[in-house]
Formats: sequence, C-alpha cells, structure tokens
Amino acid sequence: MNYTTLKFNQDELGVGLLKISRPEAMNALNAVLIEELSHFLTEVDKMSNLRCLVVTGDGEKAFVAGADIKEMLGMDPEKSLALSTKGQWVLNRLENLDIPVIASVNGFALGGGMELALSCDFVIASEKAKFGLPEVTLGLIPGYGGTQRLMRSIGVHRAKMMTFTGDIYPAKQLYEWGLISVLTSPEELEEVSLKIAKTIASRAPLALSKAKEAIHQARDNDLEQGLAFEREQFSQLFATEDVGIGVSAFIEKRKPSFSGK
Ligand code: CAA
Repeated sequence: MNYTTLKFNQDELGVGLLKISRPEAMNALNAVLIEELSHFLTEVDKMSNLRCLVVTGDGEKAFVAGADIKEMLGMDPEKSLALSTKGQWVLNRLENLDIPVIASVNGFALGGGMELALSCDFVIASEKAKFGLPEVTLGLIPGYGGTQRLMRSIGVHRAKMMTFTGDIYPAKQLYEWGLISVLTSPEELEEVSLKIAKTIASRAPLALSKAKEAIHQARDNDLEQGLAFEREQFSQLFATEDVGIGVSAFIEKRKPSFSGK
C-alpha cells in the first residue's frame, strides 16, 4: 500500500520511525489516515526485523492535533459510533503490538493526538510540545480512549481537570505529572528518541514483548493475578534461545546479539 498520510523508515538496528503526515491539517487523524494506520499496524506484525517503533508528527508544529474536526460536521450518532469504534480499535492495536512503541511528541498533541500518545508505551517530548483534550470545547468528549487512559497515566483528579477545562497544557506540566518520561529540547528530540529506541532494539525481543504484556496485566488486574502472569512468562522465557545468548554473554563479558527466538 502506498501511504499518503504516513512516512516510515527503518534502520539496520531494527528501529522504525513512523511520521504522521498531514501537515496541511496539523496531522489531524482523518478517515484515510486511520485506515492507513490500521493497515500499517498489520504490516508491523509481519516485519520480523522491526524491534522498536518511534511515532512522531511530521513537521515542527504538531504531533497530531486530534481527530479531523472537519469530517465531523453533520455526523450522526451512528456514524460517530463507527468513527470512535474504529479509532479505539486502531489505538488498541498500537498499544498491544509485541514491540515497544515510543511517542516522540514534537508539537501539539490534542484530542485524538494525545490519545495516540497515551496508547504508546511511553512518551518523550520536546519542551515546546503541548497537550490537551479540547473535546468539551466542541461539545464532545474524547472518543479514542482519552477518558480511560489519561486517568491511568496521571491520576483521576488531574485527568478530570484536563478533560473538564479542555485547556492546552505545556509539556513541562505533563512531565511533572508523569505522563512524559523524557523532556528534551526540540532540536534534540529525534536524536534522543532514536537513541532510547536503539537501546531497546538491542534487548531480547521476546523478553520485551513478555515484559510489556506483564506490565499491562499489572495495570488491568489485581496483584495476585499479575504475579501469576509474571512467573508464567518468566519461566517460559527459559525455553528460548535468547536466554542462553544473554546469560552466556554476561558470563563471558561480551555484548549479546539476540536472535528473537
Ligand atoms: N481537524 C481538522 N483540521 C485541523 C485540526 C483538526 N483537529 N487541527 C487543525 N486543523 C487545521 C486548521 O483547520 C487549519 O486549516 P486551514 O488552514 O484550512 O484553516 C490548519 O490545520 C492549521 O491550523 P490553525 O490555523 O488552527 O493553526 P494554529 O497554529 O492557529 O492553531 C491548534 C493550532 C491549536 C492545534 C488549532 O488548530 C486547534 O485548536 N486545532 C483543533 C484541536 C482540537 O480541538 N482537537 C480535538 C479534535 S476532536 C477529537 O480528537 C475527538 C477524539 O477524541 C477522537
């Protein structure tokens, strides 16, 4: 598929850089973009050499300024349910990819754009980035998971304040609230994001995928269920080639090169 709203490249270490690209509309998520993203995520499952994905916005102004508001004009409840269902489904797929996904937020991350960042495993942001859920200014609520994921990230009271005010907050605020893991200058954002992605890409892929799933269990279940899941996954990894590679490399004081098997 030839994408018109996505740009993708991958380096030799297995780091992929995906740029959301509709510069004429602040990279807003229209129907075409959501369809292309859905297709891209299916392709990711087949890219056996891809070990970490960085998602960013094309251009300097926006990560993603939300769902496309112009497509909402005159929409009825039936069509908007389909829009929300599809958007949530695509962001769920992104969140549950086997590989780690980093949001590298360069500018406005509003509405669906903030929801996209929240669906990534963690967020690295430029000091110039801005975040918000402005849906209430349009007579709406977030529809791509924002009411559910934001409170899990920054807590219920801060999430309510952001959602109810609809205000735009500077990256520094979200860094203090724990949503952003690393804050950088705009000039260094891509380099810092790719450096962290390269470190992750050098780690054992099956271990990364199981660690991600286990942390999701911790978020969604109680401690006992989470611990049971963790020991099951931990023990399963001892059946993989990579444990042999990693443990021998440590003992022989050299760097491991993981096979992903
Ligand atoms: N949808 C469609 N077009 C958008 C857009 C969006 N979400 N955001 C920006 N654009 C378009 C603008 O309409 C404008 O297009 P024209 O040149 O054709 O007029 C172009 O992008 C540039 O935008 P601005 O001129 O507004 O740029 P600015 O620098 O003055 O402001 C901004 C930037 C603060 C991001 C402002 O564009 C803005 O507030 N955008 C909307 C943000 C928003 O409300 N997002 C939530 C959408 S609803 C949603 O996401 C629901 C959900 O949960 C799924």
